[in-house]
Amino acid sequence: MPGTCVIGLQWGDEAKGKLVDILTEDHEIVVRYQGGANAGHTVVSGDQTWKLSLIPSGILRDAVVCVVTGGVVLDPASVIKEIDGLKSRGVLVGPKLKLSDRAHLVFPWHIAEDRLLDGSLSGGEAIGTTGRGIGPCYRDKVGRSLAIRLGDLYRDDFRTKLEHIVAFKNRLLNNWHESADAGAVGIAAGGGSQPSPQPPLDAAAIHSQYMQYAERLRPYVSDTTAYLLDNVEAGKRLLFEGAQGALLDIDHGTFPFVTSSNSSGVGVASGSGVPGRWIERVIGVVKAYSTRVGGGPLPTEQMNPIGEHLRQRGREYGTITMRPRRCGWFDAVAARYTARLSGVDQLAVMLLDVLGGLDELKICSAYTIDGNRVEQFPSHVDDLKKAVPIYETLPGWQEDLSSLRSYDDLPATAKRYLARIGELLGRPVAIVSVGPDREQTIFCEPPATQQKQWPRHPLRTSANT
Ligand code: GDP
Ligand code: IMO
Ligand code: MG
Repeated sequence: MPGTCVIGLQWGDEAKGKLVDILTEDHEIVVRYQGGANAGHTVVSGDQTWKLSLIPSGILRDAVVCVVTGGVVLDPASVIKEIDGLKSRGVLVGPKLKLSDRAHLVFPWHIAEDRLLDGSLSGGEAIGTTGRGIGPCYRDKVGRSLAIRLGDLYRDDFRTKLEHIVAFKNRLLNNWHESADAGAVGIAAGGGSQPSPQPPLDAAAIHSQYMQYAERLRPYVSDTTAYLLDNVEAGKRLLFEGAQGALLDIDHGTFPFVTSSNSSGVGVASGSGVPGRWIERVIGVVKAYSTRVGGGPLPTEQMNPIGEHLRQRGREYGTITMRPRRCGWFDAVAARYTARLSGVDQLAVMLLDVLGGLDELKICSAYTIDGNRVEQFPSHVDDLKKAVPIYETLPGWQEDLSSLRSYDDLPATAKRYLARIGELLGRPVAIVSVGPDREQTIFCEPPATQQKQWPRHPLRTSANT
């Protein structure tokens, strides 16, 4: 079976881009199948750093086809900017990139809605979105009547469709601004200042702009579902590049502090059109600690010198938005849940080097919620907000790991830390990353302690046993 998936098991930014770039060497097609320009995936090779958003991280290798499927919400301006940026640095893009005609398009009103509405959760909390129009575009996709897909740009009725939608959106945006003025919705409460009303959307200008995008993108647009099915049936090796992390999954994450797509392993088939039976291996990617950007609970967050150590050493600032990431200890309750949810076979533990220099390391192996010990990740965010981590303490290491290339050379304390993560998640650690560069990667034969079977039964909460 020819498919490998790379899935982030936390709240995004687990270094999926680095891993995909490395694994691309053994694959022929790399597939982005959900999310959009909210993703920021970094690849570092020598003195070159690449920041990819919509284009798969496989694009840097020549003999590979990169596919953006219909499950992705596509901002044409962003993808064109990315194509131009890659070409200007000598990367071969033309024959290698395929964009699905089924991908839903992000329009200016989606970005306006995103910025207007974040902060309007009850209680005035903000999701802290990336402001890339992701949620509103997926909302229109599911709602159907206000949606435009990439393939629609090449149809005769595009202008009529656009004019109808723009008229509707102008009324909607105007009403929202009026409601905000009247204090009826808590618009942008979390983001601080309230956005000023914008001039009405101009259908003619948007039409002309999107016609230019259509011409630029024409060489890349095709039916990628048919392409992927043909290739998977022909035995080609596919690599699926998850965006975001499983805890941001719209159905299974920390709702409502999530993104708007299925970012856990469950989204691969629906987003790509490739049935799950073709997936041979799922690699769950974790950071050696936890980070989160935006709102929502992060039970192991460290708002103290430990958190600052992680942020500074891990350079924990958003790839796309540059926002400082919230940092904390590794949360094995959360990652065990998402490893099971995504059907993970093996773990890749990234940014292990960042933990160097700390005397003690903590791993959260259970929570206390309302006085009860809980080992199962809560389904309701209010319970997660109350979760107090129960930590195991392990010895740290002072050595700099960044030049190590073999599992055997890791300090015993680092091996013990990795083994404990493997045990708690019930999966072997197969890959360890000790720096941003491609080369700073260790492929390990899992030690015997990690080669145990997956847990046969879910770990239970004290409440339900
Ligand atoms: P992604 O969204 O999952 O692809 O991750 P990002 O690229 O947003 O964030 C990961 C960051 O960690 C990037 O700046 C990478 O260059 C960096 N990085 C990746 N692996 C390592 C590592 O092992 N150690 C350190 N120190 N940095 C790493
Ligand atoms: P990669 O692929 C980290 C977060 C946002 C916000 C929430 C919803 O680089 O790991 P959205 O704009 O999607 O509606 O925002 O999800 N978020 C990410 N956090 N990494 C990402 O992508 C993210 N994509 C979205 O910060 O909290
Ligand atoms: Mg990222």
